[in-house]
Amino acid sequence: MENIVVEPVTKGLNGSLTIPGDKSISHRAVMFASIAEGKTEITGFLPGEDCLSTIRCMRQLGVTITEDGDTVIVEGKGIDGLTEPTSVLDVGNSGTTIRLLSGILASLPFSSVLIGDNSIAKRPMARVTGPLKMLNATIDGRDHGRFTPLFIRGGQLTGVHYVSPIASAQVKSSILLAGLNAKGETTVTEPYRSRDHTERMLEAFGVEVRVDNETVSIMGGQTLKGTNISVPGDISSAAFMLVAAAIVPNSEVTLTNVGINPTRTGIIDVLQEMGADLEIVDETLFGKEPVATLKVKTSSLKGITIGGEIIPRLIDEIPAIAVLATQAHGVTIIKDAEELKVKETNRIDTMVDQLKALGANIEATEDGMKIVGPTPLHGGLTQSFGDHRIGMSMALCGLIAKDTISIKDSEAIAVSYPNFFEDLNKLKQV
Ligand code: S3P
Repeated sequence: MENIVVEPVTKGLNGSLTIPGDKSISHRAVMFASIAEGKTEITGFLPGEDCLSTIRCMRQLGVTITEDGDTVIVEGKGIDGLTEPTSVLDVGNSGTTIRLLSGILASLPFSSVLIGDNSIAKRPMARVTGPLKMLNATIDGRDHGRFTPLFIRGGQLTGVHYVSPIASAQVKSSILLAGLNAKGETTVTEPYRSRDHTERMLEAFGVEVRVDNETVSIMGGQTLKGTNISVPGDISSAAFMLVAAAIVPNSEVTLTNVGINPTRTGIIDVLQEMGADLEIVDETLFGKEPVATLKVKTSSLKGITIGGEIIPRLIDEIPAIAVLATQAHGVTIIKDAEELKVKETNRIDTMVDQLKALGANIEATEDGMKIVGPTPLHGGLTQSFGDHRIGMSMALCGLIAKDTISIKDSEAIAVSYPNFFEDLNKLKQV
């Protein structure tokens, strides 16, 4: 509903920002703390709409959770302490919530129904209902389990070895969470390694997880023990600021508190390969997650080809990379990225159509996009289509366009970066 107007930046972006909490890690912290025994304090939690949906769902399952800004306290009662919800669980716009929660609910002795918004209703759920059925789960949904609403009648599960056709941390995590309460061992093998926050955080909660390259195994019957979790800043949110600083003339930006888990750092590799002036300093650990400060300056960029194993390491950053590529010299090809079609929107189509309308030389391909740069962008009316990362990508265009850019339905950005425009304004020189 909300239209925001982004003005071209004239004097560069300068200064320092602390990047808000990682969305993937915040979801997991609340869910794992909810099934753990004892209290967990989460600091640096992302109070974005998606993670708030996770908190609401866990409360409906009987868990006491208190929030105070970015600090969340969860009173875990163990996985068997969760209780049957009296109404439908609504995950809003959050794919991570519905897919991971399905794995947890599949083993519990009660029934539940999961729904979400219009975007969730179009997103594929067979990728979790299929493998969960292999563990003996009773789970179904609209169109034979392909779409929401999902119906789960929890019960005793048995571990399996699932070989996944896609590299998806949501799928992997859903199965591992089901396996946590299944008989015997559960194993997931992926074509490429997806983000491994589940593995790292389960270990932090005292669970033994075996990792062997693309294969992860967990033994059923282990209990989680409450702990304290410090959530790093989200590299996927930092990505928009990194790209902004790289493409806006006369910029120099420092981002502190950024998670640099190697399963997430594809954006750093891409920026460096394209020639960006990017430095990583002050590396440290937040529990089992690596964190650093990133420093980036306006850079002369060149086009590159992006595909293969790097794709799961930067899947959420491709809309921002598409904007970056419009300002790079030469051709950028993004391939092996069909997964973009089943995100909050079809991110190939929404980015290609809108960037083309702003004057970019960009084409959709079967599995990605091809961009030839550099091209100046002009102003105009754009839309988020209810997709936070599309909204933020359009804001990036607004920073470098010749005229103002309006973004329709910009409120979607609150899904992962509620203070995005405030942070951007802090960097604008007046
Ligand atoms: C996520 C995994 C990725 C990512 C999403 C968050 C997670 O999705 O795109 O934003 O928290 O596990 P897939 O698992 O579908 O690749």
